Amino acid sequence: MVQEGDRWWRDGVLYQIYPRSFADSNGDGVGDLRGIIGKLDHLAWLGVSGIWLSPVMRSPNKDWGYDVADYKSIDPELGTLEDAEELIEEAGRHGIRILFDLVPNHTSDQHDWFRDAVSGREARFRDWYVWADPKDDGSAPNNWISVFGGESAWELDVTSGQYYLHNFLQHQPDLNWWNGEVRDEFDDILRFWFDRGVAGFRIDVAHAIVKDSELRDNTPTTDQDLEFYRNIGQLPEYNMNRPETHDVLRRWRKLADTYDPQRILVGETYVHDLDRLVEFYGQDDELNLAFNFPFIHANFESKALRATAEKTMGMIPPASWPVWTGSNHDVGRFARRWCEGDDAKIRCVLMVLLMMRGTPFLYYGDEIGMDEPEIAYEDLKDPVGLRFWPVGKGRDSCRTPMQWTAEQGAGFTEASVDTWLPLGDYRRTNVTAQKEDPTSVLRLTRDLIALRREAQELTRGSYDPVDAPDGLWAWARGGRWRILVNLSDNDAVVDAPPGRVVLHTTREWDDRPTNGSLELGAWQGIVIDGA
Ligand code: GLC
Ligand code: CA
Repeated sequence: MVQEGDRWWRDGVLYQIYPRSFADSNGDGVGDLRGIIGKLDHLAWLGVSGIWLSPVMRSPNKDWGYDVADYKSIDPELGTLEDAEELIEEAGRHGIRILFDLVPNHTSDQHDWFRDAVSGREARFRDWYVWADPKDDGSAPNNWISVFGGESAWELDVTSGQYYLHNFLQHQPDLNWWNGEVRDEFDDILRFWFDRGVAGFRIDVAHAIVKDSELRDNTPTTDQDLEFYRNIGQLPEYNMNRPETHDVLRRWRKLADTYDPQRILVGETYVHDLDRLVEFYGQDDELNLAFNFPFIHANFESKALRATAEKTMGMIPPASWPVWTGSNHDVGRFARRWCEGDDAKIRCVLMVLLMMRGTPFLYYGDEIGMDEPEIAYEDLKDPVGLRFWPVGKGRDSCRTPMQWTAEQGAGFTEASVDTWLPLGDYRRTNVTAQKEDPTSVLRLTRDLIALRREAQELTRGSYDPVDAPDGLWAWARGGRWRILVNLSDNDAVVDAPPGRVVLHTTREWDDRPTNGSLELGAWQGIVIDGA
């Protein structure tokens, strides 16, 4: 049974599933909802409280679910509406709530609304999208650049002679959020899924929903700007990041709150400064949780991570709650991005994410330290990889099937089946082997989660910074607990309060008493119970 109480999403650990890659129940090489139902025992055993499912709605898969053709349906490849209802119910029985991914910024160009909209200037749904006349010379209405492709975000519709906006692929036309009918329709979509028991939504590109009403040009970047923006060549001030987006988020928060305080909104708030990030919490009247991309993109060294984390906690409104994550289906897996596959480093990251004050999101496979395989050009599925190869290789390598067993098919699918994306090194890294090994990454992850569940100070307690030598990150939780993580290549002598090591990343010191100083090895971490 799911636990009552509106703190579930603050106390619990959330887990992102990329549905096509979690578990395949019918042997077509693609993960599906019934596959997820079959793995709920694993997730309950691991101890997670909620699942964020990347999009499961009907999609032509130009961007693998992030191009939705019908918001009130389930993609047939993934299952049926009944499967979704069963998943929500079964998950609830396992103490796990389900969040859906909502993509309000754009639809698929195959959505009925868009198919109607392109039929002519007078079409019923024309104004549901962002249309504009060409400049006098026939070129695009302004200088906005698409996130995917580095080219104009405008596509000419030859029939009507107008351009439509697509911040992402040309197959993902942006909705016009100045149109009241669009807002009403999405209220309805939220209710449709809330009524079916979803606990909330992860909102795709939550910072971009409303566009500048005057369609003003973005400002070109200068040397002073962040590399992320320099790569695009302009600051997304007018095609994204408009203040009016917050009106939409407040509207949805009100709607969610009419159900019960346990329904939540989590946002993909892809902003690069913390001032911007904290705005998405509003006065506790916008998002419940906002993904922290400055933290995700921080350099993997203690100073940078710690500074970003502490700054975040200092800036977040008192009623609000931070999010800690290292992996997702866009940025990649922390096991590769930060740790280059190094087992000791992976353990340190898990300890950091799970012992901070805030909600950790694990990405499927993080719990076993799953790495990213190289994907050959001919196996690419991600439009971003196909567009930028070989300079950019896209996002496929972090979306490969979950590695359940060492057998052919990795326990993801039947042995003889070709998986939709190639499998990683499942013989080396898989759930089954790690479940049996008490010193495995999986058991460490599970034990860290269990510890959070046992000790309320580790979820609700304060975060108190503790001085530590260079390369180390040390903090206390709720007075009683001390966490020391050595994110460096050198052993380090550190102060440890009298108490007992509850968890050591290598497990060698588990249960060992502490008193005074100790020498913590390179890339090791410990949690001390100082009670
Ligand atoms: C978000 C999603 C990403 C998708 C994009 C366009 O950034 O996380 O996967 O490609 O939106 O919908
Ligand atoms: Ca399947």
